[in-house]
Amino acid sequence: MDISLLKEQIKNEADLIKNEIDLRNFSSKYRGSNGIFNQLFQDLKNIQNKDERKQKGKEINDLKLFFDEIWTQKEKELIEKLRLEELKQIDLTLPAYEVKKGKLHPLTKVMEEIKSIFLRMGFSIAEGPDIEADYYNFEALNFPKDHPSRDMHDTFRIDDSYILRTHTSPIQIRTMEKFKPPLKIIAPGRVFRRDAIDASHSPVFHQVEGFMVDKNIRFSDLKGVLDLFTKEIFGKNLNTRFRPSFFPFTEPSAEVDVQCVNCMGKGCPACKYTGWLEILGAGMIHPNVFRAVKYDPKKWTGFAFGMGVERIAMLKYGINDLRLFYENDLRFLGQF
Ligand code: PHE
Repeated sequence: MDISLLKEQIKNEADLIKNEIDLRNFSSKYRGSNGIFNQLFQDLKNIQNKDERKQKGKEINDLKLFFDEIWTQKEKELIEKLRLEELKQIDLTLPAYEVKKGKLHPLTKVMEEIKSIFLRMGFSIAEGPDIEADYYNFEALNFPKDHPSRDMHDTFRIDDSYILRTHTSPIQIRTMEKFKPPLKIIAPGRVFRRDAIDASHSPVFHQVEGFMVDKNIRFSDLKGVLDLFTKEIFGKNLNTRFRPSFFPFTEPSAEVDVQCVNCMGKGCPACKYTGWLEILGAGMIHPNVFRAVKYDPKKWTGFAFGMGVERIAMLKYGINDLRLFYENDLRFLGQF
């Protein structure tokens, strides 16, 4: 077979290739096991003259390279053609699907906001387990066994010594056991109480605990921190007031009210015409709590506070039924 004729033939056949099948046939006609190239190499053996054989072999090899190049080029052209045909099928003017973006749950949002306010004040975050030892939830926090102060913290028992925690205060104990003062900690978390669900109660809710331990911490430090916090979280220049209260683990103890976010303290149905809304419990850490974690109560002083996240969220957004947070109705959740 004449090499230069073959070269012409390859070029002409390549021009006729229209699709993948043509391309495949083209390849097997030349490169297949019974293809033309193998035939050419077979014929080579019959040439007696060594130089002539060598010369012919080189020509066949060059032709093979020529073929490969043409084949690759053709394949590229075909792929490009297919892609363009595909593109023609697509209507580029079609409007895009609407992508529904997810959002943070309002409780998560408020939790994050509370955390960020205290982080900016130099607090660090600590966490504790939902299933908590009776010791951390009560004993070490100065709740004696069978004391009536436990009544408000009726909860779900795992066994005699483990319960679902009723507040985030056990994290005070866990943190103080692990670290030496000075401490400035907030502890967000889920808490549990044996309450029937209604507009303002849920057996599962969320708290953020906060506490500070150092030398010479005074009640005015607590007031300053909480006053700044309420102004930041509600974004309004609302005042706070402290009413005497009782918690076993703080002395003195206080309940903290903020001026009604709804009427700015003038009096309205939301605040039962008092002008004030209760938002958290607080106080100076009781010496017995320090004793439980082997801190010297003569040396160290501190304050603690605990707030309900649901309550803060309800006040912040003007929500009057806490159940809305848990019903997962997107019409509600989508608003935040
Ligand atoms: N742990 C208390 C509660 O859940 C709140 C609190 C925390 C009060 C810290 C004082 C100090 O009721």
